[in-house]
Amino acid sequence: VRKIILDLDTGIDDTLALSYVLGSLDAELIGITGTYGNVVLDQGVDNDLRLLAMYGREDIPVFKGIDHPSTADSFSVPPDSEIFHGANGTGNIEIPAQTDRQASQQSSVDFIIDAVRRYPKGELVVVPTGALTTIAAALEKAPDIVDRISIVMMGGTLTQPGNVGPFAEANINQDPEAANRVFATTADITMVGLDVTTQALMSREDTEALRATGTSAGRFLADMTDYYIDISEKESGVYLGGCNLHDPLAAAVAIDPSLITTFATNLMVETEGPQRARTIGDPSRLLDTVKNTKVALSVDTERFTRRFMDRLLTLVRKT
Ligand code: BDR
Ligand code: CA
Repeated sequence: VRKIILDLDTGIDDTLALSYVLGSLDAELIGITGTYGNVVLDQGVDNDLRLLAMYGREDIPVFKGIDHPSTADSFSVPPDSEIFHGANGTGNIEIPAQTDRQASQQSSVDFIIDAVRRYPKGELVVVPTGALTTIAAALEKAPDIVDRISIVMMGGTLTQPGNVGPFAEANINQDPEAANRVFATTADITMVGLDVTTQALMSREDTEALRATGTSAGRFLADMTDYYIDISEKESGVYLGGCNLHDPLAAAVAIDPSLITTFATNLMVETEGPQRARTIGDPSRLLDTVKNTKVALSVDTERFTRRFMDRLLTLVRKT
């Protein structure tokens, strides 16, 4: 059973990723570390605590990460994120649970460092689905974890256009400097970017199936995801027939890497000029024999989406 840490900016697809991991018998979620992006840190952490309460999983600890990019003093949600995820991060749909529980006193940075040191190499996967600020800080604070950590991240793109600019993907764009520092390490990174996440769709038939379970969790996920499908279609101006499962695909790959095929290379992130936030081959390391990043270039969408819906339906039926 894979041990998983989700580093979430909770967010609609982050919520679906969390649900997927909780519905996976072959994974154990050992903690959620909150980051910023789709929402501010405190809103994301509040969402995490309430979602865990909704699923009856208040045994899982939640930690707070760094709440702003490494090159700024503060963070406010970009207008696009608010449009796509709603003001509360869950498409303006209320999470049907309340809790008095608070985030842990320990910081995300220290929790990640301790966990990577505690588990045998390869047993734990850290899954960032938002800004990479906290991950970069952990690798810098404890260089001994660099060669022990496994990271499966949602972010970036190599072969597709960006989603917040011609080259920029949203998560990398939140803190390109931090992302660049993460890629520059020798850490084992799998990049699940727009190359593959734009191939994985959740449809209105899928949300209808969740609603038909008649559970409050099923209705909540259905309403929230319908919001995401509607706004994705409205903003792109085309009939997509669904929404992208960005973060759930990264979570699924962390549990079962056989869902994707990858290309090994060394990446950097452009931090200057009009290509700021672009993930691109690092010219100074392209010929190195050691390549630390595996970029997902294709995905078995059939197998992934079927498994995704099976696990979500099983989960909501028992909540
Ligand atoms: C990523 O950006 C966020 O809006 C989503 O939650 C996902 O992590 C997609 O580019
Ligand atoms: Ca996210």
